[in-house]
Amino acid sequence: MDNFSFYDLQPKISNFPDEVLAGLSKQQKQIPPKFFYDEYGSKIFDQICELEEYYPTRTEFGILQQHSSDIADQIGENSLIIEYGSGSSQKICFLLDSLIKPWAYMPIDISREHMLSASKTIADKYPNLKVLGVYADYTTEMLLPEYAISSVQKKVIFFPGTTIGNLEPEEAIQLLKRSAMIVGSCGGMLIGFDMKKDPQILHASYNDSKGVTAAFNINLLTRINRELEASFDTNTFTHYAFFNPQKSRIEMHLISLVEQTVVISDRLFNFLEGESIHTENSYKFSVQEIENMSERTGFKLIRFWTDPKKHFYPG
Ligand code: AVJ
Repeated sequence: MDNFSFYDLQPKISNFPDEVLAGLSKQQKQIPPKFFYDEYGSKIFDQICELEEYYPTRTEFGILQQHSSDIADQIGENSLIIEYGSGSSQKICFLLDSLIKPWAYMPIDISREHMLSASKTIADKYPNLKVLGVYADYTTEMLLPEYAISSVQKKVIFFPGTTIGNLEPEEAIQLLKRSAMIVGSCGGMLIGFDMKKDPQILHASYNDSKGVTAAFNINLLTRINRELEASFDTNTFTHYAFFNPQKSRIEMHLISLVEQTVVISDRLFNFLEGESIHTENSYKFSVQEIENMSERTGFKLIRFWTDPKKHFYPG
C-alpha cells in the first residue's frame, strides 16, 4: 500500500486515574466525556447511533448523502481533506465518492490503532488517493506534516458528528481559531452541528426507552471500578440527562441514590443522597450562534445544508 503514510505527532495521552481523582475532588464532581469510549463504551455508543430516538447520526448521514455532489462542488478539485476524530472513517466515504480528484485525505485520531486500520481500509478502497494518517490530539495545537500542508492550496477540515458540541464554548472558539490557521485563506471547514429544537425531542434522544444511553453513562463507573480498583455500586447511581435551556445544552449526570462513600485507588469520596457526577455536555446551536462563532474565528458561513426538519446542520 504505497498510497498510505503514517505520521506520529506523539500526542500527550490523558491520564485516566489522575483526571478521575481530580474531577471527583471538585465541588461539582465531574468526569470528562472523552473517558466514555473504552472498548465497551465505544460499542454502546454505536448502539446509541442506531436508536430510534437518537436522530443525529442518521440525520447527518442523510444530509451528507443527499448533498454530497453540492458539497463536493463547494470543496473543489485537488484539495486536502483533514478529518478531526476520524475513528472508523465511515462518513468520509460520502465525500470521497463524490469529490473531484481530491489530492489527499488526512485522518487525525487519538486512537492510534483505530486510525491505522481505518486509514489502511481507505487507502485500499481508493488506490488513487494519498492517505496521510496522523496520530494526534486535534483538541490541542498540532504541527501537521509540513509536506502535506505546503504542497496544497485548498485544505478543508471535516469535523462531523456534532462533536464540537462536547466542547465548552470557549474551547470551541480556540479549536476554530487553530483550524483557521491550518486551512489558511483558501481553505474551509465542514462541521456538523446539532441544532436547537423542541426540548422533548432532545430529552428523548438522551433518555432512550431501551436504556442504552443510561448504560453508556453507567459504564464510566464500571470502567473506574475495573481500571482504578474502585468500589462503585452501579445500582446506587442513576442516569440523569436533561436540556438546560439557559446554556442550550444537554447535561448528563450520574446521581447517587443514597448517601455513601466510595473507595478509589485508596482514596475516599463521599456522596450525599442526590449528589451528582457531571459526565457530559452536548451543546445545541442556532444559525446565529454558528455565524457568530465563524466571525470570531476568521471564518465566514458560506454554505449550509440541513435536513427537512432542520434538526442537523453541517455548515
Ligand atoms: C458523540 C458527543 C456527539 O453529544 O450527542 C450521545 C455523545 N452522549 N448520547 C452527543 C452522546 C449521549 C454524542 N457526541
